[in-house]
Formats: sequence, C-alpha cells, structure tokens
Amino acid sequence: MNPTLHTVGQPLAHESAHLHVRGAAPYTDDLPEQVGTLHAALGLSQRAHARIVTLDLSAVRAAPGVVAVLTLNEVPGERYLGPVLHDEPIFADGEVQFVGQPLFVVAASSHELARRAARLARVEYADLPLLLSAQQAAAAESYVLPPVHIQRGDLATVLASAPHRHHGEFHIGGQEQFYLEGQIAYALPGEDGQLLVYCSTQHPSEMQLLVAKALAKPLHQISVQCRRMGGGFGGKETQSWYFAVAAALLAQYTRRPVKLRADRDDDMLITGKRHDFHCRYEVGYQTNGRILGVKLEYQLRCGYSADLSGPVADRQIFHSDNTYYLDSFDILSLRTRTHTQSNTAFRGFGGPQGIIAIEYVLDDIARRLGLDDLDVRYANFYGEAGRDLTPYQMRVEDNVIQELVAQLEQSCDYRQRRQQVAAFNASNTVLQKGLALVPVKFGISFTATHFNQAGALLHIYTDGSVLVNHGGTEMGQGLHTKVAQIVAEELGIDFQQVRVSATDTARVPNTSATAASSGTDLNGKAAQDAALKIKSALATFAAQHYSCQAEEVQFAAGLVQCGTQQLPFVEFIQQAYRARVPLWSSGFYRTPKIHYDFATLTGRPFYYFVYGAACAEVVLDTLTGENRLLRADILYDAGRSINPAIDIGQIEGGFIQGMGWLTSEELCWDEAGRLTTHAPSTYKIPTISDCPPELNVAFFQQPNREDSIYQSKALGEPPLPLAASVFFALRDAVAAVGQHQYPPALDAPATPERLLQAVIAQRAAHDR
Ligand code: MTE
Ligand code: MOS
Repeated sequence: MNPTLHTVGQPLAHESAHLHVRGAAPYTDDLPEQVGTLHAALGLSQRAHARIVTLDLSAVRAAPGVVAVLTLNEVPGERYLGPVLHDEPIFADGEVQFVGQPLFVVAASSHELARRAARLARVEYADLPLLLSAQQAAAAESYVLPPVHIQRGDLATVLASAPHRHHGEFHIGGQEQFYLEGQIAYALPGEDGQLLVYCSTQHPSEMQLLVAKALAKPLHQISVQCRRMGGGFGGKETQSWYFAVAAALLAQYTRRPVKLRADRDDDMLITGKRHDFHCRYEVGYQTNGRILGVKLEYQLRCGYSADLSGPVADRQIFHSDNTYYLDSFDILSLRTRTHTQSNTAFRGFGGPQGIIAIEYVLDDIARRLGLDDLDVRYANFYGEAGRDLTPYQMRVEDNVIQELVAQLEQSCDYRQRRQQVAAFNASNTVLQKGLALVPVKFGISFTATHFNQAGALLHIYTDGSVLVNHGGTEMGQGLHTKVAQIVAEELGIDFQQVRVSATDTARVPNTSATAASSGTDLNGKAAQDAALKIKSALATFAAQHYSCQAEEVQFAAGLVQCGTQQLPFVEFIQQAYRARVPLWSSGFYRTPKIHYDFATLTGRPFYYFVYGAACAEVVLDTLTGENRLLRADILYDAGRSINPAIDIGQIEGGFIQGMGWLTSEELCWDEAGRLTTHAPSTYKIPTISDCPPELNVAFFQQPNREDSIYQSKALGEPPLPLAASVFFALRDAVAAVGQHQYPPALDAPATPERLLQAVIAQRAAHDR
C-alpha cells in the first residue's frame, strides 16, 4: 500500500455488507410496489425451429386476472432489437428459433396468474430443420456473423519442417451465468408518456435505448435505474433487455406499473450463456516444447442471433496467445448460428475460451514430449527479445509473467509437490492425484474503443456528506465501495461520509455497460476527476479567503489545511457554500492510448494486461470419477490494490466460478433442442463444499505501470480462467492411470462421468 494513501488500499467491507447479511439490501423485486401494479409473464416457444401456423391467445386473454396480452403486432416502435445487429424480434415473428423464445407477454393481477395464463396459449407449429451444435452449424455454413481469420508467417512450411507435429480436437462447454437474483424489470408510467424502469441490469443506458426504440420515444422520456444486482456475470450486460422492453411495453399499453420477474427455469430457457466451442488444432514444435507454429479453428455456438457474439469471438482470438509468443499462426473463428438461446457475455467474454484452447495445446505438447507442462510453458512465454508481439500486433510492454510464475512455483513448492504426487500415484491404485500450474494474461479495456469512457456526478452537501453517482453498476463486485474509497481519499474524508447512489440514466447519461472488468478503471477515474474539479474550486476559494497559496491547500484526515490554518472539512464546506462556491461537479474519463481496427483485428485494444497464475492439486477416484480440489495457490497481479479484501473476494469467486465452468456445470440440449438443464436440480454450480480446504491467494506486488486509477489493475474477470489449472490437474490425474503414456482425450466440463470414461480409455490403452 502507498503510505500516502489512507482510504484507498484499505481492506474495507463492501458498502452494503451490513445490509446484505441482514437481508436488508433491496433488490429490484424488493422495491415497494405501487398501487395497481401488474405482473407479467412471457409465453415461450416449445419448438426450436418452426413456422408458427397459428398462435391462438384467446384462452390467455380469458384467463383469470389477465389485463393485457401483447405480441409483436402491438409493438409501436422498432420490432427488431439487439445490442449490435438488430436481428432479434422482440417476440417471435412468424417463426421460432429456439425453445424458450418469447412469443408474447401477458400482464395479470398477480405473478402466479400471469404465469398460469401464459401456459394457455395454443400454438400450432410446422417444424423446420434444426441446427443445434456448433459443429452441425459449421458444416452447414450457418453463421450469425462472417468467419474471422488471422494469420502470420508461412504456417504450412513451418509445420512441415517442425521437429514435432501433431493435431487434435476438443470441446469446451458453455456456462449459465446463474446470478442468484434472476432477471427482472419493473416499469412505471410517468407524466406525459414518460417511463421509469427499475431493472437488474449491467447496462442501464442500453436498456434505456432499447426501450425507447421499442416504444418509439426519445431517450429523454425513459429513465432506467439500478441500485444493485444479485450478480450479473455478463448475463445482464445485454439480455436484461428482453425483460425491460416487455415490461415497458405493457406499462405503456396499460398505463399501469408492470413488473416482469422471470422464474428461474424461464430465465435459463430464455437467456444466452457462455459460448461453448469446438476446437480443431495442429501444432509444430521443438524438442523443448516451444511452439513454432499453430493452427486453431474455433467453432463457437452463438445461438439464434448475434447479440455480443462478434466481440466475444474476437476476444477469444485475442486471448489465444495467453502468455505465449506465437511466431507463426493461423486462427479461424467461426461464429455459428444455431437454434438455441443467443449466447452472450459471461465473465471473461471469450477470453477464457481463448486461454483454455492454447493451454490445451500446450498440455498436449508436454504430454507427448514427456516433459513437465510447466517447463513447456516457460519455453513459450513472451519475453525474450523479438518475442513480444501479440497476434493482433500489440507489443506486450508490461510483461511480468516469468517473474510471477517463478514466484508462485517457489511459494507453492511446485517441484517438490510434483514428486509427492508421483510418489502418491505410484503407491495408490484407486486414488490418483494430479497437479497443474497455469498462467493467465488478460487484456483490459473494451475492444470497441468508444466504450472506454465514463462519467460521474459528485455532490458535497452543506453538512459535509458526499453523494456520488457514476455510470457503473453494482453487481456484488464492490465497484461502489471502491468509488466511495476513491472519493473519500481525494477529499480527505472518512469513507462513511461518502454514499454512492443508484445508477440512473437521468443522472449520468450515455454510459457503457459495467463489463470488461473496467468498472473501477473507468468510473473510478471519472469520480476522481469530479472530486479534483471541486477541490480545485475549493482551493481557489481557500486561497482568497485564508490568504494562502491555492497549491498549499490540503484535504486530509477530515481536515482542510489552508496555509497555517486548519479547519474541519464540514466547517470549511459551509464557508465555501456561503461564499457561493459550487459544491458539486461532473467528472469524465476516457482511456488513453487505445485504438483498434475491426477490419484487420489489429491495434492496441488493451490499455494494459493483468497477469496471474494458479497451481491446483486434485485427487481423483478412478473407480467413480469423483474428485476433489485439494489445494489451490493463486498469485495475482492486481497492481496497487484499491481494496485487498474485495479483490481477494473477486479472485476467489472468479476462480471457483471458473472451476464450475470446467468441471461441473454442464448444459444439455435434447435432440429437439430443449435445454434439459434449466434449474439448479439439473445444473450443478460449485458450492462451498466444492471449495478446496486450502486456497492461498497472494498479490504480485507491483503497481500498474500505466496511469490507471491509483495504479491498480482490474480484477473482475481475469481470475476465472485461472481455473484451467483445475481442469489440467484432473487431466494429469487421469493420465497417471496410464503411466503418463497417453494424452487423455478430455472435454470440458470434466464431470465425474467424463473423467471416468477417460480413465477407462487409459486402462484400455495401457492393457493393449
Ligand atoms: N462479481 C460479483 N460478485 N458479481 C458479478 O456479477 N461480474 C463479473 C465481475 N465480478 C460479477 C463479479 C464480471 S462478468 C465483470 S465484467 C466484472 O465483475 C464487472 O465489474 P467491474 O468492472 O467493476 O470489475
Ligand atoms: Mo463481464 S462478461 O464483461 O459482464
């Protein structure tokens, strides 16, 4: 921690922790309902791809309590929406494209009556051909967006002359965001056609825009507010719009407040997830494991529409190098259109998919060469002269990966534990252990340059208390806590004197999604800018009033120092108020240095990189496939941490969520395209009992070399792919069954079932 800082750098509790633990923190559904509030439910498609022959809603309209039923015909404004392309009908338009697609929305006097009514639709479908998996869709050349291809060097020649060469393929599953608070919107009609929408969303401005489009209204008629979410994880970056728009349409139509709270099963059926993908690769390498050239083909399942698939797939490409220099490469990214939910943002936004792919390739290289996978990783790191250029032509200037990995290797006793694991495996037949150490490099910034801006509004009241509003949303990640710390630090006051208000499109406009891990980087800087502006006005006042130099005025420890005089902040503020000094200001920030060309996928898309590494040790029961993470050690480069307590929480949470993605969370669709895992009864997220008994998280002590807010670094997403260490440790345990002679075929999630199959395959190969 910087000794000159006071509030920033402190492990303060989350600003709402005292409310969270008492159940006193209101979420959207907890807001007091206005008299006359109606409750809505969506009617969903039962077919994955079909023409709608008849949609008979008479029984829905006649059902008890029903007040209104709307279909696409009743939409007054734009009927097709979407965050990038407008390729999604608000309600099905003559054809359905996935099971769960909204056909209509019904408003009734209660939540239950609305849900009962929605089931009474009589729909006649004429089935059309189905494409469900990415592989099927790729074979049919069915895409939501054109393929993207980048390459460098003469790969064919490099592969042909490489001392070692192999090819392979694997499948990495998707992931449901599983925010604890489901999707919800509450729309309230106001005067003169205005509308206020409370929505659990990471992107109030996008909700405002899409509601305005659907209702054919100017944006100033629509306000969207979000105080907090019970998790978003990317799932509320765009797809909260289905709920915000449907509730707003009903509110406009009925002139009554309308709440649309999705039931968990409906939520999982309607909204998109992390993109699963199939990867085919070919790689040529040296005897020490150094990659000479690699070819990667990704088939991503995007679902029925584009949503954010373009930037997600781009970010997968941008993370296909992870921490490694790729001299010669050919990366093809196929964004396939399938008759499933429209896949969307999920913590990491394609980055984890790129990282797991190259790590899989490296793991295979190590297994084929009989080398320790960590040594193969070292052999490929960015770093040496001439080995610092990413596939997208950005130089890696802030590389710390060798140092960071070496530090973790020491602190977790990697080499010694490798021997212990081998010894354990040699003396046990049923239980086998596995170990893996995986590094991560993650690029910070939105790839779309214009999203990298933020605004804030700061008010100091005459009692010295401070209210901040900014464009970021709070989803549990602690953004509001950090922004309050930053403002308290700048004004030299106590953290408790600063309150952050609900995110509100009427206060700070045209905001970006709180996403890409950049919430604090952007909004923290904007809030700091607002504080600095007020301080500058106050210093000018102080210089006149107390006859000192403006530069000498200091705000610290609740006091304002003006030359030789010192007075409490509140007294000083009251004097400034009486002297008619403005006590509020806006603030603004735009990230410097970044630029990016969408056509060629080159430029400097990232302001800086975050680095980390994790070492995982697992034990596998080779008779059942059951397994446990025994211990994990994480070293993470958070720059100068703004709040170490919150940051450790983010690292632990991201890691465990990543472990869920790669080990237990399995999404299954049946042949008819029905998602069969649409509730916690069938979809297994990690619980406290899946957390390892030993989880050591440490910070790599080095400030951000870029001028980020207090030299901190982002934390939201990069910890998630560190869980690749768990996956590869499991693969290592499986390989132990065959004495490490046969690289196991293992897809993710590595469920007990898949692990058992892989173990059986090892035994078969060994006995042959
Ligand atoms: N942490 C919690 N508790 N809940 C969340 O929904 N979302 C993650 C991450 N951490 C999330 C979270 C995702 S996907 C992102 S992009 C970042 O938080 C967004 O917040 P930040 O930019 O303020 O880090
Ligand atoms: Mo996070 S996936 O960028 O919302």
